Amino acid sequence: MTRRVQYTSNGGIDQLHLAEAATPEVGPGHVLVSVLYTGLNPLDWKMLQGGRFGTVEGSSGNGVDFSGVVAEVGSGVEDFAPGDLVYGGLPKQAQTGQLLIEDPADRLDRVPRGLGIDTAGGLYITGRTAMSGIRDLGLNEGDTLFVSGASGGVGIIVAQLARNLGARVIGSASQGNHALLRSLGVEPVTYGEGMWDNVRTLAPNGIQAAYSTQGEDEVAGLLDAGVPAERIVSIGAGPTVAETYGVSIAGEATARRDDMVWLGQAIAYGHIHVPIDRVFDVDEVQDAYRHLLTAHPAGKVLLRFPAKPLTDEQRAHLR
Ligand SMILES: NC(=O)c1ccc[n+]([C@@H]2O[C@H](COP(=O)([O-])OP(=O)(O)OC[C@H]3O[C@@H](n4cnc5c(N)ncnc54)[C@H](OP(=O)(O)O)[C@@H]3O)[C@@H](O)[C@H]2O)c1
Repeated sequence: MTRRVQYTSNGGIDQLHLAEAATPEVGPGHVLVSVLYTGLNPLDWKMLQGGRFGTVEGSSGNGVDFSGVVAEVGSGVEDFAPGDLVYGGLPKQAQTGQLLIEDPADRLDRVPRGLGIDTAGGLYITGRTAMSGIRDLGLNEGDTLFVSGASGGVGIIVAQLARNLGARVIGSASQGNHALLRSLGVEPVTYGEGMWDNVRTLAPNGIQAAYSTQGEDEVAGLLDAGVPAERIVSIGAGPTVAETYGVSIAGEATARRDDMVWLGQAIAYGHIHVPIDRVFDVDEVQDAYRHLLTAHPAGKVLLRFPAKPLTDEQRAHLR
């Protein structure tokens, strides 16, 4: 048996609870992962709320991002072996002690040396989304890029990828996260009233590109500020903004299979910093989501599953 986070009705965070579940059968080509860390994303609670993300029937697992240790492999699996440290993503399933991956070639990567098994556990959605968007922005050295939610899981990666490409980055966040942004070479502005005036003061000659993590109003504000539609990526306003405004909605769905490998190594080598704000035990899953939604975290919020301690060999691999 294993424990998993699940819900049986759509609604708020109080619907999330831990339940006993059978350990999955490992069939040919499958990989069973003992999950160690699982990152929280806004997508999780959007799915929990239901609406355009569907209505739960019976019960649903929760969470997408995970990292852990390969516990067992099915016949025919050659790329992974028990004991390997791995990470990846599986929608509505990741928050379980024993996670069955039926298509490991599409969903699983080895944790590269130096990445950190905790960081790896919160990287799949944000990393893939950031990589997809930055590709679409086609930044040139010297461009000024506006990133909203620059302290958030996606924004903080986008902002650093853009800095590494030679762009100047102005990023919005609450005041408490401005020091973090400055430490990463991002010029912070506070979102809300007066933000566009502050952006104009910082960049009187205009901004050339924008990565928007917020709603349709922000997309309209960017167009008003003179950013060309084809240099705006929007991931927070839903799919209709593409048709309405002609902006890109390049997000997680258009990431490439090797994006995580590239990004994992960039983080491991110190080119990108992905801070962890707080780690909760899985029993505290409701508190963890409340923290995500209300505490303005400075980095990722993770859940940790109890597991056997890593072996010396596994620890050595992570250093
Ligand atoms: N389309 C896709 O493929 C895709 C993929 C991933 C995510 N998303 C969506 O993109 C959004 C961001 O995801 P994330 O993982 O980065 O979220 P996150 O980690 O929760 O970060 C949210 C960010 O938004 C900022 N913020 C909060 N309220 C704001 C407001 N009223 N105006 C401007 N900024 C505000 C936060 O700043 P403070 O914490 O400093 O207040 C933080 O920087 C979510 O809506 C998510 O569902 C879409």
